[in-house]
Amino acid sequence: MKKRIAVLPGDGIGPEVTEAAVKVLQVIARRFEHTFDVAYGLIGGAAVDKHDSPLPDETIELCQQSDAILLGAVGGPKWDKQPAELRPEKGLLAIRKHFDLFANLRPVMTVPSLLHASPLKEEVAKNVDMLIVRELTGGLYFGEPSRKTEKAAFDTLVYTRKEIERIVEKGFELARLRRGKVTSVDKENVLQSSKLWREVVEEKKKSYPDIEVEHMLVDSAAMQLVTNPSAFDVIVTENMFGDILSDEASVITGSLGVLPSASIGADGFGLYEPVHGTAPEIAGQGKANPAATILSVAMMLKYSFGMETEASAIEEAVNVVFEDGFFTADLASPGDRVLSTNEWTDKVVDELDIQSVSNSIMFTYN
Ligand code: IPM
Ligand code: MN
Repeated sequence: MKKRIAVLPGDGIGPEVTEAAVKVLQVIARRFEHTFDVAYGLIGGAAVDKHDSPLPDETIELCQQSDAILLGAVGGPKWDKQPAELRPEKGLLAIRKHFDLFANLRPVMTVPSLLHASPLKEEVAKNVDMLIVRELTGGLYFGEPSRKTEKAAFDTLVYTRKEIERIVEKGFELARLRRGKVTSVDKENVLQSSKLWREVVEEKKKSYPDIEVEHMLVDSAAMQLVTNPSAFDVIVTENMFGDILSDEASVITGSLGVLPSASIGADGFGLYEPVHGTAPEIAGQGKANPAATILSVAMMLKYSFGMETEASAIEEAVNVVFEDGFFTADLASPGDRVLSTNEWTDKVVDELDIQSVSNSIMFTYN
């Protein structure tokens, strides 16, 4: 298969982690005989510096001509004082909206080799395997009016029935491919938008009799996430709740540095990015953990290109490298040798090569 991928490294550690992921992508291309054409574009602070816009037209065009987008991260103290429309984060929100990437998938899993780094007790953190499905193009992030004056400020939380229906359906469909349970998170005891949300879930569940559905208030969900996280399978929720809960859930794994995400639209086109931010304090030092971006590439192969085997190869290689005890600084225990971004990426590349050799040996003996 031949695919074109727009790579938008962004700011801070973005360039380092996307470089690592592109390297892994090219190993997959070689091994599975695909061609991945990679084209680079600017977003976030890097784009503000060069074009006075966090999402320049040429970047949108580049993405339009591509089959998927790989993004690093945007933002940093350098641009904190900018007026709202020149904030790097605006670029990220604008690209999600432009391509109508309404479904944000954030898997959170714990694996035995990383349990040492979890802030939760091992018996609480073990066996976590959940998928947070966050609505990404509606709610408080985009509602109008949104304004601030000297005396007051306001934001608008608006959801149409259609917007809720499509994300709830996505949650049900994804649960079908997993353990068949959906937890819908809302604030139905207070918010009108949540009442509509719950109504839609109740209606949609009639078409999914095989799925177990529970409703949970967002405050209770926040508590359950740190007391009984392994009880969750698919969580489906609106934009702001999903933003907060996914950061909370991410720390269970031990490091934000291992969490990938996919933001997909109705036609399978998608933007893939690590959940972590730009980490300006370690940018450019080779200290960043590239795992989240490498795993985001695996999500791209799976969700946008239908390459399940290739995606699994990456996930397996990442797992083996962790199991072998190789860590970047965020996950290393005292006394461990700390690997740089490039060294750790090379371990994954080696592992992918080892897999391919052992697969061909198996093939020979068959
Ligand atoms: C995320 C980030 C963004 C969000 C910011 C950078 C706008 O926190 O992807 O979760 O709030 O959606
Ligand atoms: Mn966030």
